[in-house]
Amino acid sequence: MRFSALSHLSCPRCQRQLDADQVTNVCDCGSPLLVEYDLPAIRAGADRDDVGRRAPSLWRYHELLPVRSPEQVVSFGEGMTPLVPMPAFGREVGVPRLLMKDEGLIPTGTFKARGAAVGVSRARELGVKKIAMPTNGNAGSAWATYAARAGMRSFIAMPLSAPEICRRECLVVGAELALVDGLIGDAGALVRATLAEREGYLDVSTLREPYRIEGKKTMGLEIAEQLGWRTPDVILYPTGGGVGLIGIWKALRELVELGWIEGPLPRLVAVQAQGCAPIVAAYESGATESEPWPDAHTVAFGITVPKALGDFLILQAVYDTGGCSVAVSDADLLAEQRRVAELEGAFVCPEGAAAFAAVRQLRGSGWIGADEEVVVLNTGTGLKYPSTVPLPT
Ligand SMILES: Cc1ncc(COP(=O)(O)O)c(C=O)c1O
Ligand SMILES: [Zn+2]
Repeated sequence: MRFSALSHLSCPRCQRQLDADQVTNVCDCGSPLLVEYDLPAIRAGADRDDVGRRAPSLWRYHELLPVRSPEQVVSFGEGMTPLVPMPAFGREVGVPRLLMKDEGLIPTGTFKARGAAVGVSRARELGVKKIAMPTNGNAGSAWATYAARAGMRSFIAMPLSAPEICRRECLVVGAELALVDGLIGDAGALVRATLAEREGYLDVSTLREPYRIEGKKTMGLEIAEQLGWRTPDVILYPTGGGVGLIGIWKALRELVELGWIEGPLPRLVAVQAQGCAPIVAAYESGATESEPWPDAHTVAFGITVPKALGDFLILQAVYDTGGCSVAVSDADLLAEQRRVAELEGAFVCPEGAAAFAAVRQLRGSGWIGADEEVVVLNTGTGLKYPSTVPLPT
């Protein structure tokens, strides 16, 4: 069995197929591209017990990852974050079988390290020397960090209001940092304008290159493996660009196709903040795409994405799994951040706190049943957002 069973890229909108060994951004039709694998070859050449014997990093799933050569892997040992029982909080909200997948325990302190590890490794394998991206902060620090380890240059543009630590993380690894007085879309416009004047940079914006999803899908692979190759009833995910949710959905479908788990898939919940809830609005009206959200604003900065390029994929993941999409207020998510910390000793990021608030809300409405097994993605450590905890005066 080869290291990677990477086969080709495919367009989920117009079904076009593309060569995976060319540097590619989006499809000609504008859609993000998805990575396809030779699953029958994996089925014939590897089994899930082989995976279980490998080192505890996301690279243990290398057949299902796009990097062809192990020498190209750029890694700090990321992945295999713990799936932590949350019995006290679970009891309080009436979901005793509540688990937290804790992405705070990963290089750069957020799950963005997964997309960066795989995306940078694959970019290096394809000969890329310089990358550029807009970010809400955490992805920028992760990609700048992995780029530095790969010996690549990086140009990162982020809103002035992004967490300050992310700026420092970019600077310490020598990234070129641009700050914009606006939102992530404005940072994207700056990246495109800058790249138009420069040579040799790959635009690695969310879903504008196909490999970030592959890194993030490892959250889904790990959840299945950590539960003994089965899936929970519900997975809640704080959704901005939605890459993690799309990735988890893709991972679980690949595992079903491999015969490593059985369906049905868990109900996937796209959690947003009330101040920026385009996916929730689309879900509530039964739409298959979202409308841009005006005046987006929330303390859960990572999920401030007024219009996601992959919105149709997020909604498909939600509809296909019988999931839903809900919004929580900043007051509720900050209160929940406090409550999770008090009851469980876990200092979660505000985005993760939004997903915990959504558990309480969905249990309250009966959408989550009392005996269901529920996994919340805490996408990062609270340490990256110290100002969410005011000091006594
Ligand atoms: C901590 C955190 N959680 C969640 C998200 C949303 O991620 P996605 O783009 O996968 O929806 C982000 C994105 O910046 C983030 O930084
Ligand atoms: Zn297409």
